[in-house]
Amino acid sequence: MNRKYRKTLIAGNWKMNKTPTETKAFMTELKGLLPKGRWCDIALCVPAVCIPAAVRAMRETRVGIGAENCNPNPSGAYTGEVSTAMLVDAGCKYVIIGHSERRAMGETDEEVNAKTKAALEAGLIPIVCCGESLEQREADITEEWISMQIKLALAGISEDKIRKVVIAYEPIWAIGTGRTATPEQAEEVCQLIRTVVRKLFGSKNARATTILYGGSMNDKNAYELLAQPDIDGGLIGGASLVPSKFVKIIEDANQPTA
Ligand code: PGA
Repeated sequence: MNRKYRKTLIAGNWKMNKTPTETKAFMTELKGLLPKGRWCDIALCVPAVCIPAAVRAMRETRVGIGAENCNPNPSGAYTGEVSTAMLVDAGCKYVIIGHSERRAMGETDEEVNAKTKAALEAGLIPIVCCGESLEQREADITEEWISMQIKLALAGISEDKIRKVVIAYEPIWAIGTGRTATPEQAEEVCQLIRTVVRKLFGSKNARATTILYGGSMNDKNAYELLAQPDIDGGLIGGASLVPSKFVKIIEDANQPTA
């Protein structure tokens, strides 16, 4: 982390977990545990049907609510989809884009790019995900793969908008597996992402971009990961479903930095 130049963000990704009723209970418990005072930015990205309950429960808090996906079109014949304007109107501040689980369902780099632009246009903060598979890491093409994903995701985004984008590095082999990247592995790729952003948008913008690590980050390993200079927070799946674990990670994000 480097709080002098950029925001620290701890974001939960609930995936397809919790009902609206369970959301209300979780938020009540979380509110009781959240540290008082100025801490890092906090987001909880929840299933679309849980957004109203989450927004209502966290209205007076510093926790921003987010969605896990959006459709880039403004409106129309897209059965089952949710637009960015709908998310904003429902009280969302964030939206996860290009998660590897959605890419595995067929989401393309072009769609990730269109969704990122639509989110920015609507005033949402996109949390844009990238990450390599185990095969790609073993074939030693992580650098090329991540550079390509970032270039395609951020293509055509204007300089005044880039600082609103949060990037999440999530190695696919570490998601939900309990196998976390080492702090060194995670830092190496987060640093690479910052270099790519620097080439595209200049050093001031690169220095101001929040880059998260995600993939089995939990209350036990967060401290070390967050101590890395280019890891500005976490995108947390499993551990964000348990209020005490999520709060411990938020506390770890408050560690002193150089
Ligand atoms: P995990 O999920 O923390 O359960 O590995 C992270 C994510 O997929 O965003």
